[in-house]
Amino acid sequence: MSKKILVVGSSGQIGTELVIELRNRFGRDAVIASDIRSSGDPMVEPFEQLDIMNGDQLNKIVKQHGITEVYLLAALLSATAEQKPQLAWDLNMQGLFNVLNLAKDGVIEKVFWPSSIAVFGPSTPKINTPQVTIMEPTTVYGISKLAGERWCDYYARKYDVDVRSLRYPGLISYKSLPGGGTTDYAVDIFYSAKKREKFTCFLKKDTALPMMYMEDAIRATIDLMEAPKENVLIRSSYNIAGMTFTPEEIYAVIINSVPDFEIEYKPDFRQEIASSWPASIDDSRASKDWGWQAKHDLNSLAQIMLDNVSV
Ligand code: NAD
Ligand code: SER
Repeated sequence: MSKKILVVGSSGQIGTELVIELRNRFGRDAVIASDIRSSGDPMVEPFEQLDIMNGDQLNKIVKQHGITEVYLLAALLSATAEQKPQLAWDLNMQGLFNVLNLAKDGVIEKVFWPSSIAVFGPSTPKINTPQVTIMEPTTVYGISKLAGERWCDYYARKYDVDVRSLRYPGLISYKSLPGGGTTDYAVDIFYSAKKREKFTCFLKKDTALPMMYMEDAIRATIDLMEAPKENVLIRSSYNIAGMTFTPEEIYAVIINSVPDFEIEYKPDFRQEIASSWPASIDDSRASKDWGWQAKHDLNSLAQIMLDNVSV
């Protein structure tokens, strides 16, 4: 059977760019975009409006298009999940079960589902956080991602489901806006810099978090999905790393190009979330198993963002 991909949550920060890159590689008609929000953009066709909570609707679309692989991106992110805990748990878990069960029943061949650095908690070693370590997340989002990881591993072991996953750090891009995460400040800061507006940062200036330029994240995602099955030895989720910086450090890089740019710090509820996460990640297992390596650092990221963010 030829490859036919369904991207669920395609209108979000990652989906917008993932669909473009998957279509570059496999052809426009090989990739069906889908989201609960209607797209209204003919450029996104083929597109299906889909609520991932509705298993029957998912089944129908998968059969109609002869889908072989699902990339499941629909979820509530960390900050929104703290505001809507029940919805976050329901969406983040039910959506995953609906897709995993299709793979268990042999309807689809492969699943990509993203986890997050949010699976780690305050008791996890913060620096160079290992692949296997203490995991006691204190956020709704982190709890749902850790549970999701365990279910992915379970379906892989018990039912031989080919599910693959990455623990994304905070993702940064100029092509699409982030959707309710704790790392969103690292995108927002570039918009303020370009507008020459004072930036109010919702994290303290010394809060170090793992981050990644979107191009690296998209490449990691497709490389993992295209890796030979026998190389994908971890079926919960792989650590991947790009760069680590604090608000103070990203600000220092931006003012090299925008010297009059100002920042103030007003930490809100997202500070507690950020403080519970690692500062940096050990991604050596991803490098060893399927050859992962990030290309972008803070300087290259900042240059790309400053050159391309349009306000
Ligand atoms: P996003 O919020 O930008 O996009 C999610 C998309 O899902 C939205 O377009 C939304 O309309 C759609 N959606 C919501 N409910 C839906 C439903 N019931 N059915 C179908 N679609 C629905 O999120 P994102 O940043 O693109 O993240 C995608 C995935 O990657 C999530 O699982 C997220 O947890 C994970 N992740 C993201 C980051 C990041 O920095 N962006 C980091 C770690 C993990
Ligand atoms: N960027 C994501 C968030 O902040 C990390 O999973 O929620």
